[in-house]
Amino acid sequence: MHFTTSTVVVGLLAVAASGVSAVPAKRRPDKGHTSRRVELGPRPEYLINNMDEGPLKDKLALCLEKKVYTTHFSIGHRGGGCLQFPEETMQSLVAGTRMGAGIQECDLAFTSDRELVCRHDQCDLHTTTNIVATTLGAKCTTPFEPASDGKAATAKCCTSDITLAEFKSLCGKMDGYNASATTPEDFLHGTPNWRTDLYSTCATVLSHKEFIQYVDSQGLQFTTELKQPRVPMPFQGNYTTQMYEQQVVDEYVEAGINPSRVWLQSFVFEDVAYWLKHAPEFGRQAILLDQSGDPPTSTVEKAAANLTFYKDAGVKIVAPPLPYLVSVDADGEYVPSIYATKAKELGLDIITWSLERSGPLAQAVARNDYYYSTITNGTHRDGDMYKLVDVLAQDVGVKGIFSDWSATVTFYANCMRLF
Ligand SMILES: *[C@@H]1O[C@H](CO)[C@@H](O)[C@H](O)[C@H]1NC(C)=O
Ligand SMILES: *[C@@H]1O[C@H](CO)[C@@H](O)[C@H](O)[C@H]1NC(C)=O
Ligand SMILES: *[C@@H]1O[C@H](CO)[C@@H](O)[C@H](O)[C@H]1NC(C)=O
Ligand SMILES: *[C@@H]1O[C@H](CO)[C@@H](O)[C@H](O)[C@H]1NC(C)=O
Repeated sequence: MHFTTSTVVVGLLAVAASGVSAVPAKRRPDKGHTSRRVELGPRPEYLINNMDEGPLKDKLALCLEKKVYTTHFSIGHRGGGCLQFPEETMQSLVAGTRMGAGIQECDLAFTSDRELVCRHDQCDLHTTTNIVATTLGAKCTTPFEPASDGKAATAKCCTSDITLAEFKSLCGKMDGYNASATTPEDFLHGTPNWRTDLYSTCATVLSHKEFIQYVDSQGLQFTTELKQPRVPMPFQGNYTTQMYEQQVVDEYVEAGINPSRVWLQSFVFEDVAYWLKHAPEFGRQAILLDQSGDPPTSTVEKAAANLTFYKDAGVKIVAPPLPYLVSVDADGEYVPSIYATKAKELGLDIITWSLERSGPLAQAVARNDYYYSTITNGTHRDGDMYKLVDVLAQDVGVKGIFSDWSATVTFYANCMRLF
């Protein structure tokens, strides 16, 4: 295991490093087209074949033989390959990049030595890495407890429990756990059957600096999400929220990245307000993630009502989840929601998340999956995903879509010439 990790790290860093010098400087700022050969695999064609007959299906089918390019409309969620590759790892990033994601994501959390690392949640190491089955498991906030007497197995492991060097010794794996586990090894299982463990073979976890270096070497753009701390702040008595907000900016400045290539995100309005005030060149294109209207089936209007507040505060881009933006009309067709209409009226740019997170759509709808909760009545089959993307792109006018499988969005964007 250990041998594999270090070999992969060294190999990937060598590739990234050679990429930096191989790309002529004047081509480095990405314009949506790079010399990379983008490959989309069989999924777009599968989805098109699965669509209801109609002009959209015909139009998309005509694009299947066209050459495709990297596009900023396609945003790699947790790397862009996390439908099949462990999230927030080098392997997910490489997969999403090959599938044409023009903007790549790292979700931020901090370690005990205050280094920034890519993780979707500060306290998800017990479900996204092998930590409980290593000696580091003893350092977890809540070390592994086996299932017993009908009580589920538990563990809670946070990036802030360990140092960066310790974090880097972990293996990234598919998100999931086995609640019946009686051993730490059994706890690591639990991947939904529509994902796969095929690439869950000790994926390379990343520091934020390594993420920046790789994405820069590929000439792409960056979107870093400041995740909410799961420990009381100030951490260790003097690491404040403001230091955390500033540190993400400092790492881009130190790496010499032009702020126009960086899209910082947060669910916390105060984070965006901090960047607007203290790092305006980053703040002006910071993204306010908005999940204030949950559940979207009943309270999305409340979130829409607050958009004026954000607009007045200087926010330029809002990013609500898919169900905030679409609803179903009397004929069962997808249409823009009240929220979408309000955001457009205010002149706010919209980005949305996340496509390809729900598995087969008939199953998703049957279990009342969050992302399809406002369009349950109009959703029947996987091919409906392109109907959704089409309404988001053409009627709602989103500037980009996060996807767990970048090929799906890259294909649509290329077909419709959205770069
Ligand atoms: C879950 O854990 C139990 C108990 O350790 C084990 O018997 C079972 O095989 C595990 N399930 C999976 C999917 O690994
Ligand atoms: C933070 O506090 C620690 C002691 O807990 C101290 O060693 C360190 O110098 C302090 N750092 C700053 C920036 O004040
Ligand atoms: C809108 O959001 C801001 C910032 O989160 C909050 O302070 C305010 O109370 C909200 N207003 C409404 C009407 O929800
Ligand atoms: C879906 O249709 C059912 C039955 O017609 C209706 O009760 C329900 O409110 C609809 N759901 C949505 C989200 O429109």
